[in-house]
Amino acid sequence: MKYQTEIERRRTFAIISHPDAGKTTLTEKLLLFGGAIQTAGAVKSNKIKKHATSDFMEIERQRGISVATSVMTFEYKGILINLLDTPGHKDFAEDTYRTLTAVDSVILVVDSVNGVEDQTRRLMEVCRMRDTPVIVFINKMDRDGKNRFELLEEIEKELSIHLHPMTWPINSGKDFKGVYNLAEKNLRLFTANTRADESDIVQISDLADPVLDEKLGERDAATLREDVELVDGVHGELVVEDYLQGKVAPVFFGSAVNNFGVKEMLDTFIRIAPIPRDRETTKRPVAVDEDKFSGFIFKIHANLDPKHRDRIAFLRVCSGKFERNKYFHHVRLDKDVRFNNPYSFLARSKDVIEEAYPGDVVGLFDTGNFKIGDTLTEGEEFYFTGIPSFSPEIFKEVINKDPMKTKQLEKGLLQLTDEGVAQLFTQFGGNKKIIGCVGELQFEVIQYRLLQEYGASVEFRAQPYYKACWITSKNPEKLKEFTRFKSANIAEDKDGHLVYLAQSEWFLNTERTNNPDIEFHFTSEIHKTD
Ligand code: G4P
Repeated sequence: MKYQTEIERRRTFAIISHPDAGKTTLTEKLLLFGGAIQTAGAVKSNKIKKHATSDFMEIERQRGISVATSVMTFEYKGILINLLDTPGHKDFAEDTYRTLTAVDSVILVVDSVNGVEDQTRRLMEVCRMRDTPVIVFINKMDRDGKNRFELLEEIEKELSIHLHPMTWPINSGKDFKGVYNLAEKNLRLFTANTRADESDIVQISDLADPVLDEKLGERDAATLREDVELVDGVHGELVVEDYLQGKVAPVFFGSAVNNFGVKEMLDTFIRIAPIPRDRETTKRPVAVDEDKFSGFIFKIHANLDPKHRDRIAFLRVCSGKFERNKYFHHVRLDKDVRFNNPYSFLARSKDVIEEAYPGDVVGLFDTGNFKIGDTLTEGEEFYFTGIPSFSPEIFKEVINKDPMKTKQLEKGLLQLTDEGVAQLFTQFGGNKKIIGCVGELQFEVIQYRLLQEYGASVEFRAQPYYKACWITSKNPEKLKEFTRFKSANIAEDKDGHLVYLAQSEWFLNTERTNNPDIEFHFTSEIHKTD
């Protein structure tokens, strides 16, 4: 229990949202509270511009800049907060999924006008798989949004999570007057671009207090009283344990751009958000307060700029203390490695660090030694589990245009897929190589990098698949039989796991019905428990 104090003061989380819901704006406000940045707009300039979708080099260039903001560390009221950035661009969704394996909780931003959107749904699925505690921030209350009860109902239904309102809004759009804090029983009046100082808070002895009518007007005060009675009646007080188990998500209403409702959320966050927790491995659970160091790589960022050929592997510390220049055991390669200049991420600058503790993320310069899911320890042999691969959505066959460069191509494909840029499948019993990605952009990235970095020239041929399902069975004979019958649709992933490539949902459902002994999975664990 050597590092208990360090562990207890850390909170490691990510903000997730559908693009445009306000993630960048909220991030910036949080950093302002933490004193990590001084001026508004500092984070914004690092954002991948939404409109540059057709130009992957531009996106990569911006992603390069965004390495500096991949992890933003700041202190607030004595708590050390590690905020892990997640790319908003949907083609990098896989990056986001992986980042979610490295955090202890998330804040979900929902646009009050648009409600639950596609990307939110998928990100929340990942959170639910891991029972990640979630706080919801309903943003843009200064715009005419959906009815708040209907919105909450929609979120609950769409994301299969119980919500617990912590604040309650008074109107929205141009009539937005502020929020009532249900736990503290006070009112914060809305002023655009507020500095969120305490002077906006109106203390109320109870809901019958005439101050309410004075501040809100009789009609809105009456509505608030009715709403609060209803909400309180249904929800009562938040049970923090339910939040920590991922069963209930506290909800805050606000407007990030106006810095309204953000402080309430941040104060609650540091009070209830989980500290780094124990983690499962292939061998045994690793307690966060063990003395010995352990951690895993959850993301690798390659630099496309030929002048800076470095890759950065992101290590999440899970137990013990990470130290600069100390030898650690790289389990997969079975060798000891040390790092001269590991760095931590303070907003907008990279600093070499001497040590890091559970919950921290360390950037390691890498020349190709790491792949996603790699584990570092002080000698023990295990891998952290719960780092999944998800089914890609676009599949293309790799056509080698230059047979003289076959070796380079194979090496390139292996290395790029180690980085998690894409997934590689090999046709069962054949040689056909199929690449699976979440977005079209990745194919451009792969084609470009194979040529630039490996001298291999490729083309892609579209494949008519919609999902890759990892297949398993308790009955090995049945699995063999299915594989033989369906060989045209069977491939192996890089680790030799069998995958069924489904042309459509209809095909998949048919195979499911016809083959009750076969299990179809949309995700695959990189490391499985023994
Ligand atoms: P993202 O990272 O989730 O993609 O969203 P981002 O913060 O960039 O916000 C998307 C747009 O929504 C931005 O406007 C931002 O100013 C606006 N926004 C954020 N919070 C609020 C809010 O509480 N109320 C209102 N009305 N708007 C909000 P933009 O025009 O796309 O960018 P910019 O020109 O303002 O930088």
